[in-house]
Amino acid sequence: MFSEANEKKLDEIITHYPVKRSAVLPALYIAQEEHGHVTDDDVRYIANRLDMRVNEVEEVVTFYTMYSRKPVGKYKLQVCRTLSCWLQGAEQIAEQIEHKIGCGVGETSKDGKFTLMEVECLGYCDLAPCLQVNFDYHEKVTPESVDKLIDGLKTK
Ligand code: FES
Repeated sequence: MFSEANEKKLDEIITHYPVKRSAVLPALYIAQEEHGHVTDDDVRYIANRLDMRVNEVEEVVTFYTMYSRKPVGKYKLQVCRTLSCWLQGAEQIAEQIEHKIGCGVGETSKDGKFTLMEVECLGYCDLAPCLQVNFDYHEKVTPESVDKLIDGLKTK
């Protein structure tokens, strides 16, 4: 169940598509925005609203890395681990971030601010290595630029 405002938003979004199930991605965004992550209740609720089976919604939410099935930090740090970024030092960037925020890949920092993830190609291969922070992209990152970025986020 969503807030009244989000229920209206979902009703409106559903009208944009010829079949209800096509609204599954924006519906999941609404759920995540409202609850911080996509809960089991959200999955069941969206399935019901969009005439889908629960496992079909689950397949979508677990396929895309932009959705989280468990609570995440305020900042989701997503390091691209695909070839171009890997060749340009993404592994060292991930290690640098682990050291900086004090937790490993797939974990959330103790202060609840950061969640570190490794993801597949972010579409900026020519600007590798690439880091996504929530919906912002940072290209050609270096250990120094990552340090500065995280220090800045820690103060927000
Ligand atoms: Fe990293 Fe494509 S390989 S953005």
